Amino acid sequence: MFKKLIIALVVGGAVMAVAHSQEVPSDFQILWGLFAIIGAVVFMLLDAPPLKTMSGGKSFFAVLTFWIVVITVCIAGASLLPQFDPEDEREKINKLLEKQRAASQQGKAEELIARAKALDEQVKALEERLKTLGTGQAVVASAAPPPADAKPSAASGGAGDVMKVGEEQWQLQECYNCHKLRGEGGKKRGPELDNIGTLLTVEEIQEKIANPKSFMAEGFEKEWKKGVMPDKFKDLMDPKEMLALATWLGSFKNTSVNTPKPIKQ
Ligand code: HEC
Repeated sequence: MFKKLIIALVVGGAVMAVAHSQEVPSDFQILWGLFAIIGAVVFMLLDAPPLKTMSGGKSFFAVLTFWIVVITVCIAGASLLPQFDPEDEREKINKLLEKQRAASQQGKAEELIARAKALDEQVKALEERLKTLGTGQAVVASAAPPPADAKPSAASGGAGDVMKVGEEQWQLQECYNCHKLRGEGGKKRGPELDNIGTLLTVEEIQEKIANPKSFMAEGFEKEWKKGVMPDKFKDLMDPKEMLALATWLGSFKNTSVNTPKPIKQ
């Protein structure tokens, strides 16, 4: 029995070490380690002396108890693990789509403005003609002014808006998966960014986001070579959003955090 336990610990440890070296999320590392232990328990149970044969109500009761215990353990175990919240994800997807919807609405608004202007010109031309015809009166009131509610896109507002868009992009693009900021997020895959504003200019941060190979964070050579930081953000953000994100990040100048020095390659 002890031999089996030791084998399980060795196998489980090896699986966890391999998983760790491949940067598998730590929840899975632990899960796989547990599988090895559960396996050992199963083998131990196989060697256990057989139970006395039961029958009738007693056997029914035994099976029922067994299942209640198993189900309780499963539910309790699962609810201890971090839960995936579909509402959260839906909100994120909505935010991403909102931008595209707004863009297409803006397109429509611009088209309407252009049409209103063209109509206005026509009306003016008609007025002129009426005048030259000697009626002297402009019969038609000037066409309605172009709709004033063509909304500017979110990023073009004031400085506060830029910061808001920047922080929103941080959440939407899930930079926090790899980077710790204000003590939150980052599963040790990328550097902590609280002091990035002291080390890089806004333009340089922008360049790093658009093209992660442009700089290498000191001490992260392995990750930099492997291209751990994804090269997809320039396709996912429009330039305004990327500028907002870089501006927002550039405001983080907490010198007590050891953000690694960026090295230009
Ligand atoms: C999958 C993990 C991952 C994601 C997601 C990620 N990064 Fe990174 N990032 C890294 C790693 C690893 C490094 C260090 C290696 C390097 O420089 O490429 C890094 C480096 C950086 C640096 C340079 C830090 C320094 O001290 O030089 C900045 C700035 C940065 N990332 C910003 C971002 C922003 C902004 C996002 C979201 C749009 C983001 N990262 C998303 C992994 C990631």
